[in-house]
Amino acid sequence: MNSWSVRAYDLMPARYYQPAYRYIAGSLELTSGAILDVGCGPGWVAIHASVGNPELDCVGIDLSPDMVRLAERNRGNRLNCTFKVMDAAEIIYPDATFDRIVAVQTMHHWSDPDAILRELHRVLKPAGQLVLLDADADGDVPSGWIARRGPWPPDVFIKRMWEQHSLGADGLRAMTERVSALDWTVKTDKLGFYRRLVATKA
Ligand SMILES: C[S@@+](CC[C@H](N)C(=O)[O-])C[C@H]1O[C@@H](n2cnc3c(N)ncnc32)[C@H](O)[C@@H]1O
Repeated sequence: MNSWSVRAYDLMPARYYQPAYRYIAGSLELTSGAILDVGCGPGWVAIHASVGNPELDCVGIDLSPDMVRLAERNRGNRLNCTFKVMDAAEIIYPDATFDRIVAVQTMHHWSDPDAILRELHRVLKPAGQLVLLDADADGDVPSGWIARRGPWPPDVFIKRMWEQHSLGADGLRAMTERVSALDWTVKTDKLGFYRRLVATKA
């Protein structure tokens, strides 16, 4: 993402997605151990997961140095959050480092999904979970998942953004097939307005 897109993301979606980021962080159900947020953007899922959980190590990685700068700004003084510029296809962490890995609204950017999935499988601990989330432009916008100022942003605007910036149903089906080629059990369902894929490592 170029600097202008990063700034626009910070001013718009990153603000109105705050309730969604909180729900996602809570859904990971982890109070100690380590979480990796892949394609973390402004870092909010890792940041919300870290709040009130000093025993939890929250790491966010992103290809974009501008996004990582934003995430570092947003982190403030939370010492259990770390953000790094890193390609998810070449993760520097050792095997079996993380209890949970979450990737929100980033899969449509992945140029080599198989390489990324192999890396995510490698750095996940046994029995750990990978959670992939992609906004569902065909579904509703559940109340309470978006922070609005008056009527802004309206559902029609939000859904237009998802149509343009998501994997979509077919893309997620193809991703599910790619994920299923590795050694973990795979389940798909919904979380709020996201299509969710959860892969649990053997
Ligand atoms: C639409 S943003 C979503 C950010 C954040 N997850 C959120 O929901 O607010 C997608 C992010 O994925 C990052 N990204 C794309 N490909 C990546 C890769 N191979 N490794 C790490 N980050 C990547 C982009 O730089 C971008 O910041």
